[in-house]
Amino acid sequence: MPAATRRRVLSVLTRVQTGSAAALTAFGVVHLSAPLVGLLHLGGDVNDRVDAVSRWMLLGRVAYQSALGEALLWTALATHLLAGITKRLVTRFTTAASTRSSEDTRDLKAEETAVVQEPPKRGARLSVAQASGYMLAPFVLHHAWVNRIVPSSPKAPISSLSPSELDYSFVAHTLSHPNAGVKIIMATAYTVLIGAFAVHTSFAIPALLRTIKPASRRKGSSRPRPALLASSLAFALLTSLVALVPMGARGGLAISGTLKARYDAVLSSVFPTRLFFVRL
Ligand code: HEM
Repeated sequence: MPAATRRRVLSVLTRVQTGSAAALTAFGVVHLSAPLVGLLHLGGDVNDRVDAVSRWMLLGRVAYQSALGEALLWTALATHLLAGITKRLVTRFTTAASTRSSEDTRDLKAEETAVVQEPPKRGARLSVAQASGYMLAPFVLHHAWVNRIVPSSPKAPISSLSPSELDYSFVAHTLSHPNAGVKIIMATAYTVLIGAFAVHTSFAIPALLRTIKPASRRKGSSRPRPALLASSLAFALLTSLVALVPMGARGGLAISGTLKARYDAVLSSVFPTRLFFVRL
């Protein structure tokens, strides 16, 4: 492929990846601020905490659960993944056919590395940002399937759980489920989701900043420390989630038996939690 075309294609794909990452970051800030609000209510009863977190999440949903907001979110996720995969295919299966003098090529090379962060060549290892992105993808899709798509099914007994019915009580219910298998699966899914998200965003932010402003590379000790950022973010989010589990709370989770049955209908129709529900 002509070097200029290849460079332009990679540059466009990088910009698409960056733009979609910005949209996903905005969503992440709104969506994840809800569990963190629970940390401000650590002293009280777990049901008060679940209530506070749920009310905050309902506010946030105004931004991303409108028809336009949801379409933008799915588009951002799809383009982010597709741009990354296409970029990888282009760098792996094409080579730059240079038509310029060696001096021009050197200049272009410098320009290209400043704007386009190429994925590694065949056989090279993925960066932490990229590997965590591929790990995150199936968990994000599973999370959306369990928490958004299946609960909106009109089929009884799920009967289209409304936004106010599908709040953090659902999360608290899954994490304190009487069936140990369901509880372990959901706790693992949330832990990997949070861990991969924390690592991906923390390690991708430097790449993102370089793309937006190549000259902004910092020196020495002022460099961001992604591992520290990732572990702090993961720790805060996991703590906020554990704080929603009604461990030893008097009377347990304050939700009706009917609502629990509707939540269980969701869990019994999705993989892998459905394996733990015995059908009579
Ligand atoms: C929420 C779900 C997300 C998923 C499933 C996801 C997935 C991925 C994947 C699979 C890649 C690797 C693509 C490749 O092979 O080059 C990637 C790259 C990237 N992601 Fe995400 N991502 C998500 C969110 C975010 C967010 C919130 C940010 C903002 C910081 C972000 C920033 C980036 C950047 C900058 C890269 C390029 C990294 C590099 O090439 O070094 N992503 N993402």
